[in-house]
Amino acid sequence: MSDVIKIGVLGCANIARNFVIPAIKCLPEKFELVAVSSRSADKAKTLASEFHCHAVEGYEKMIDSDEIDALYIPLPTGLHKEWINKALLAGKHVYAEKSIASDFTQAAEMVDHARQHNLALMEGFMFQYHSQHEIVFNLIKNGEIGEIRFFSASFGFPPLAKGNFRYDEHLGGGALMDAGGYPVRATHFILGNDFEVKGATLFIDPELKTNTYGSAFLTNSKGTGASVSFGFDNFYQCRYEIWGEKGKITAERAFTPKPDYKPKIIVEKPESTKVIEAEPDNHFIKSFEEFYRIICGSSDKNKHYSDILLQSKTLEQIKILSCQP
Ligand SMILES: NC(=O)c1ccc[n+]([C@@H]2O[C@H](COP(=O)([O-])OP(=O)(O)OC[C@H]3O[C@@H](n4cnc5c(N)ncnc54)[C@H](OP(=O)(O)O)[C@@H]3O)[C@@H](O)[C@H]2O)c1
Repeated sequence: MSDVIKIGVLGCANIARNFVIPAIKCLPEKFELVAVSSRSADKAKTLASEFHCHAVEGYEKMIDSDEIDALYIPLPTGLHKEWINKALLAGKHVYAEKSIASDFTQAAEMVDHARQHNLALMEGFMFQYHSQHEIVFNLIKNGEIGEIRFFSASFGFPPLAKGNFRYDEHLGGGALMDAGGYPVRATHFILGNDFEVKGATLFIDPELKTNTYGSAFLTNSKGTGASVSFGFDNFYQCRYEIWGEKGKITAERAFTPKPDYKPKIIVEKPESTKVIEAEPDNHFIKSFEEFYRIICGSSDKNKHYSDILLQSKTLEQIKILSCQP
């Protein structure tokens, strides 16, 4: 394999067109966008002409191509099991959109395939690569808020257009798998990996027959609590708060700051409130830099395998606990 990774895209998704393909094109020394594929030849041609690459009709043909080293897979979660496994078994590194799997068993199978074939497998929680969180980590490290007592994170938005795949349980829909993944990942990312779910609730919309909002309570071995909340039928929220013994830190646009946006970090203490404006950052570019490092061996593949397993285990715990009477 040459130093430049030849990458293809499975499905002409909005997230691919608007953010991820432009990010990949910003890294010409790391990735060459070879082709985009779609179920529709016309859709593939339109996207390919926009980004000056080949158009491929059908996902299978793309996966079988010898021209491709890696795939970006922005399909609905319910289709991931089939296409991620096929891609890994064909020897392709995979960057898959969140949520990577519908349940823990699916995630474990994908990780097994990646491990056996020594391939990179990464889940698309790009927000972790935004520099605003480094500001938060430094504030915590410097003792600004003292010991952490509680974490809370929320991601939710008003209803989506009817027919959106996120309302279709067969396509891996539901607010938990979509919006819920962010506050869950944020809990582990900010406070560490030893959180377990103690209680949860999921509202199942009787007409849509999928969950449209929910929340969960988690604790770690030190007794620190965390609450996560998410929804598709909610007033917009995209934030986390870390409440310490001496103060509180809030990241007000924690998960989806656009590349030109300056997210604010608010530090509240008894004597003052400080608002830190973070620099704009493109977490899509940053996360593909990490994907490149995993492929090349300078970042640890195993960390990403573990993150994927922990994330899907935690989402599954929320589902299981919310089903109990
Ligand atoms: N990381 C982030 O910041 C972020 C943000 C938004 C979304 N996402 C994730 O990215 C993925 C795509 O989201 P999106 O909003 O971009 O969705 P979208 O525009 O609806 O794209 C989904 C794509 O999946 C393909 N597809 C194949 N079978 C399908 C089916 N039965 N129904 C619907 N689509 C089907 C379609 O591609 P073809 O028709 O071309 O084959 C379609 O363009 C999801 O997993 C989502 O969770 C991530």
